[in-house]
Amino acid sequence: MQRKALVAANWKMNGSAELAEQIISSLTDVTLDCEVLICPPATLLHCFSAQDALLLGGQNLSEHESGAYTGELSGALLSAAGARYVLIGHSERRQYQAESDEMICRKLQQAVAAGLTPVLCVGETLSERQQQKTEQVIAKQLAAVYAALPELLQNSVIAYEPVWAIGTGESATPEQAQATHAFIRQQLMAYQPTAANAVRILYGGSVNADNCAALFTQTDIDGALVGGASLKPAEFAQICISAKGTKE
Ligand code: PGA
Repeated sequence: MQRKALVAANWKMNGSAELAEQIISSLTDVTLDCEVLICPPATLLHCFSAQDALLLGGQNLSEHESGAYTGELSGALLSAAGARYVLIGHSERRQYQAESDEMICRKLQQAVAAGLTPVLCVGETLSERQQQKTEQVIAKQLAAVYAALPELLQNSVIAYEPVWAIGTGESATPEQAQATHAFIRQQLMAYQPTAANAVRILYGGSVNADNCAALFTQTDIDGALVGGASLKPAEFAQICISAKGTKE
């Protein structure tokens, strides 16, 4: 089962049309052996619409299909704006928007129904890690979706993002990340073995041009979800260049 490297940019509530142009030009004329996914604010998706080489994604979607949900975006609306992927369950949304595992499961269903590939974000907080609860927390986050709906796994990407590593400059070590990625894949085996081998598991949390290469060499790390460094065109291009090839 082949897993092509994937580097995803999570711009969060940042960026501009000018930054989109800079990112596009930094990725033009470089030889890439990975897929690149840009998740800008939804209002900037159109800035990338002429870029066939880049995949586009939303950062969130509604748990509802359509209707009276002021300010929300459905999977169909994101898709019509050019998105093919959507981040779901980012820790910032779990924390600040009180997204529950149940809501996240409904969002995954909406994403797949709209033809989008969900990027399910999982990860433990610092205190959960200190209490040695990392595996327990992640197993629960995965089970909330895939125990009930194992068929969604073949359409998913997983992002392991330890909350303590996001935006802190303190990335997980390659060994720490690999151990958790292997655990995630092993957990998913129980739900859908073929899809568990094929699913791409991205690492996220303070990925930068200096630490990415060592992370990408790990057996179960299939790419990265990049926040802060994805707003720096030259550095983001460097991360994309470092993500090479296909794993089995
Ligand atoms: P970071 O963010 O790279 O700035 O740590 C990653 C993320 O939140 O997706």
